[in-house]
Amino acid sequence: MPRILITSALPYINGVKHLGNLVGSMLPADVYARFQRARGQEVLYICATDEHGTPAELAARAAGQTAEEYCTEQYEVQKRAGEAFGLSFDHFGRSSNLPNHRLTQHFAAVLEEKGLIQERADKQVYSIDDQRFLPDRYVEGTCPECGHEKARGDQCDNCGRLLDPVELINPYSTISGSRNLETRETKHLYLLQSKMQDRIAEWVDDHPDWPLLTKSIAHKWLKEGLRDRAITRDLYWGIKVEKDGRPRSGFENKVFYVWFDAPIEYLGATEEWALASPDGNRDWRSWWRLDEGAEDVRYVQFMGKDNVAFHTVSFPCTILGTEEPWKTVDTLKSLNWLTWYGGKFSTSENRGIFMDQALELLPADTWRWHLMANAPESDDASFTLEHFASVVNKDLADVLGNFVNRITRFCAARFGEAVPEGGAFGEVEDRLIADLGQRIKAYTDALEAMEFRKAFVELRAIWVAGNEYLQVAAPWTKVKQDKDAAAASVRCALNLIVLYAALSRPVIPFTADKMFAVFGLDSEAASRWPENAEQALQTLQPGHEFTPAPVLFTKVEDDQLLEWREKFGAPRADK
Ligand code: MF3
Ligand code: ZN
Repeated sequence: MPRILITSALPYINGVKHLGNLVGSMLPADVYARFQRARGQEVLYICATDEHGTPAELAARAAGQTAEEYCTEQYEVQKRAGEAFGLSFDHFGRSSNLPNHRLTQHFAAVLEEKGLIQERADKQVYSIDDQRFLPDRYVEGTCPECGHEKARGDQCDNCGRLLDPVELINPYSTISGSRNLETRETKHLYLLQSKMQDRIAEWVDDHPDWPLLTKSIAHKWLKEGLRDRAITRDLYWGIKVEKDGRPRSGFENKVFYVWFDAPIEYLGATEEWALASPDGNRDWRSWWRLDEGAEDVRYVQFMGKDNVAFHTVSFPCTILGTEEPWKTVDTLKSLNWLTWYGGKFSTSENRGIFMDQALELLPADTWRWHLMANAPESDDASFTLEHFASVVNKDLADVLGNFVNRITRFCAARFGEAVPEGGAFGEVEDRLIADLGQRIKAYTDALEAMEFRKAFVELRAIWVAGNEYLQVAAPWTKVKQDKDAAAASVRCALNLIVLYAALSRPVIPFTADKMFAVFGLDSEAASRWPENAEQALQTLQPGHEFTPAPVLFTKVEDDQLLEWREKFGAPRADK
């Protein structure tokens, strides 16, 4: 049985992530990891904070902290937010930790040996007043393309053009505001991606099963031709450019570019995971080295579409360029954007809802369900509070929550707090079982294929089937004439709760555990993936005691919705 390695794109360290970031990588990866664990697969789900680069340095400066202090603090904040959302990382690491330093330097050294790294002289913006080079976002100015006056050194936010800082017109330092700048020549390391064109094209072609979005992005970049790119920057916060353990001459004040070291942290974080084990001795290389046992590993990556080029082209250049037997990605699931009322969620402009704020409104499972059931898969998807509230009220409160409450309360009142005996399953149950059997298969297949919207349409239909069953079986009326028949349908419905908990746990883990707890079941054991509906409905035997369920989901009221709209400055809803 293959082992499954799962990574989700590493969230930037600067600030708590918004719901768009969450549904773009970490949440779908978590759902998939939970699903595969329930199926009995050996899963390793790895993530980490992406801590280097100009945004981290600038955010630290704005907070009046050193980059080290800032990152350590923000790492804890993000780790807690992840836990509160039920993200089941096997390890959540930091790209600034030692394993990543060692690995990044290793990759650079081997790539240089293979003739894929070259020192080149480069023109950079230098600030005389700040006495330093100003890479990327350290410099702003007028966009040469559209005339926008606040274009950043690496990109213009107005027209989207990628920029080199030296192209800006009327540039100024974002540190001091100084315009006393000049262009100076300095050395940088270049990764010769152009030499890897054929190798990468071949590798991409070896993956015909990648989702369409992933493949089309990879092909677009290959078609434009791979360009050599600078993998060092004039910054102090990052991974030092060393050679044989000594600073490389001319690179004393430089570090590797964040996009060079960040994906290497997938490996680094796996090593951190190994070091964090009780004996510090878990074997991380068996997940990553084909010559050390990784042949049976299936590696799945999750990310937003803006990250796809880096994972289908740039990072593969790093890995394959070494000619060492490192594991590369097998399946790459990429997602589109979640929009905030059709516009952009934005960290820098504080627009939208952020993970910590979300949990002040409603519990994690409501967000998890809404985001996954409406994941931006085939297209961008718009988040609105109105839609969120209606999904919570309908899917979660009316369909699932109501089912669980109604039947446990009815049983407690008429039969007592134990699964009733008497009667037998008949035709109605047979039909239910046949229907569930088909739907569970469709649901399982969709999750396996990582088609989440489709999967959760099925799961919702599975919940609905329970309500429809109760309409037909109607134990509340039957109990008066035929108590045994009523007992059989109650028994069936109580078993449905356990089945629903197991099937729903990948997406709403906190609620699933509450549902198991009603029957005193241990969630880990009970959440084994149900393959067979008939068997699943025999899990609880007559006499099995329970405590009636707590209310699983409270409905969102209109005035609450208004308050949220106000708080988050929601635009007028399109509908
Ligand atoms: N921090 C990047 C982002 O949020 C993603 C980095 S993914 C990795 O867009 F591969 F570099 F780790
Ligand atoms: Zn522009």
